[in-house]
Amino acid sequence: MSELMTQLQETANFIKSKVKEVANTAIILGSGLGNLSKEIQADFSIPYSEIPHFPISTVEGHKGRLILGTLNGKKVWVMEGRFHFYEGYSAEQVVFPIRVLRLLGVQNLLLSNAAGGVNANYAVGDLMIIKDHISLFTINPLVGKNETALGTRFPDMSEPYASSFIEKAKQIAASNSIKVHEGVYVGVTGPTFETRAEYRLIKNVGGDVVGMSTVQETIAAVHCGMKVFAMSVVTDLGIREDLNVITHEEVLAAAHAAEPLLTLLFSELVKEIA
Ligand code: HPA
Repeated sequence: MSELMTQLQETANFIKSKVKEVANTAIILGSGLGNLSKEIQADFSIPYSEIPHFPISTVEGHKGRLILGTLNGKKVWVMEGRFHFYEGYSAEQVVFPIRVLRLLGVQNLLLSNAAGGVNANYAVGDLMIIKDHISLFTINPLVGKNETALGTRFPDMSEPYASSFIEKAKQIAASNSIKVHEGVYVGVTGPTFETRAEYRLIKNVGGDVVGMSTVQETIAAVHCGMKVFAMSVVTDLGIREDLNVITHEEVLAAAHAAEPLLTLLFSELVKEIA
């Protein structure tokens, strides 16, 4: 077995030894979106720092805990906080937890993130279902020797975000009178927010929002056969002609404000798919 597969298996075995049952669905909570975990009756919770081979989350607004519990009557794994390439982790480290979740039996992955809006129809606080993504120079996590035990060398990416989940989420949004956009997420490495010219570029290449996560996780998840659903909270607008300065504090505040709607959508979706 390769070193990567050995480590993945060790981590999965460690987690399995701590829990009585597992779940087929996992949720990753993005910046400022950790409150969903308050809705969960937790059976088990462990800081990332105590999980063998796990990277350690260093960003403010990310707690760094893996939880197993019940949300809306369904068992789910929740990752409170994720790993970003800009923290200095390799792309392979960023997606390590995704692969561990797969080895634990997870089939459905729900991702959330804070993102900057570049679509002129978007406002701060809006929610956007990610229907597709563009990687703007983020490192593909599958670069390197392919792990055939995980997936194929050249994975298809025609539907990275499962259309069946998107349809369900749209129905849930409509029946709860929640306005949602559906659009394209452009992944960048960060940690700088974009220049004015970069926001213009992102809009011109077909992006609706831009953010510093999600793309690598989705690629790794699709590679190992998971179905992915992802949602962005628009936390700022990349329209900087009139000197629009963006701060991490503002991003966190906007994410917090939109959290109750995102929580409702995710917990209703879990009820249907988990
Ligand atoms: N750009 C990149 N990442 C982000 C942004 C942004 O404007 N807002 C939140 N995450």
